[in-house]
Amino acid sequence: MIEIESLSKSFGKIKALDNLNLDIKRGELLGIIGPNGAGKTTAIRIICCILKPDSGDVLVDGMSIHQEQIKIKSMIGYLPEEPNLYERFKARDLLSYFAELYGVPKGEIDSRIEELLELVNMSHRAEDRINTFSKGLRQRVGIARALVHDPQILIFDEPTMGLDPATAHNIREFIRELKGDKTIILCTHYMDEADSLCDRVAILNQGRIMDMGTPQDLKSKIRGDLILNIKVENLGGDVVKGDVIKAIEGFSTVEDVELVDNQYTISLKSKNDIKDIINVFEGNILSVNTKEPTLEDVFINSFKQ
Ligand SMILES: Nc1ncnc2c1ncn2[C@@H]1O[C@H](COP(=O)(O)OP(=O)(O)OP(=O)(O)O)[C@@H](O)[C@H]1O
Ligand SMILES: [Mg+2]
Repeated sequence: MIEIESLSKSFGKIKALDNLNLDIKRGELLGIIGPNGAGKTTAIRIICCILKPDSGDVLVDGMSIHQEQIKIKSMIGYLPEEPNLYERFKARDLLSYFAELYGVPKGEIDSRIEELLELVNMSHRAEDRINTFSKGLRQRVGIARALVHDPQILIFDEPTMGLDPATAHNIREFIRELKGDKTIILCTHYMDEADSLCDRVAILNQGRIMDMGTPQDLKSKIRGDLILNIKVENLGGDVVKGDVIKAIEGFSTVEDVELVDNQYTISLKSKNDIKDIINVFEGNILSVNTKEPTLEDVFINSFKQ
């Protein structure tokens, strides 16, 4: 549905996108994660025909961003990082304005807007002006605006940033409901959001894809299947600590050991050696817990120096 082909874009000396290639299938929800400045917003703005690339192309439903900007724009609902809303409009009037602009049939506009206002929980503020809204309320209007023409493709750049937990939850559940029906790109810094919503996640860094896969693939690939945390009493000097690490590293199921503030974080391929690893500490243990790796672990591990 969206084919990104050898896309490059520089701003002066900064290479925001460096020969980026990415295919997004129809009906897929693709997450893009990556550090600040990785190029996420730049890629999105090019797909939405707001920014021109230096080279490369994006095909949206087979149409090139170099030729079919108007058609492509009408297929996409875009929530920018900071929605630029007409400040003096009332929320309802803003949505009407965009509905007309995008060619929503006149007879359907009112009911569509009612539906959207309800969805983003803004019915009670429909008659208030945008310039009286807090950040989160603006974000809600921005989401309604992105959806007003019922587009096939939705592109959300950090949709839940700055929202209170209940509203963020509603938005996530709403995105989940759209899954399958729409093709969706979701940029986010919230790893649990990416993990729970996305079919696939692309990790972007310095304008290139570092890795891509289902959240499960990424989690099992980058770290072990299981993480064992062992908190200990102060075991003594560096020599003792070093010996303990060496002993743990000796187990074949151990992939990685880290010691921070008397807590050992041990990545394991399986749980077979857990009992024996615990025995290494000869009872000097304050707490033990295991957890499955999260996408946050994947992210932190990918960008570890
Ligand atoms: N209009 C611009 N002029 C100059 N530099 C820009 C412009 N837009 C983006 N950049 C630079 O391009 C790089 C990529 O920026 P981009 O906004 O795509 O990153 P991002 O991955 O969306 O980051 P964030 O997570 O902070 O939103 C950054 O170094 C940024 O400073
Ligand atoms: Mg961005």
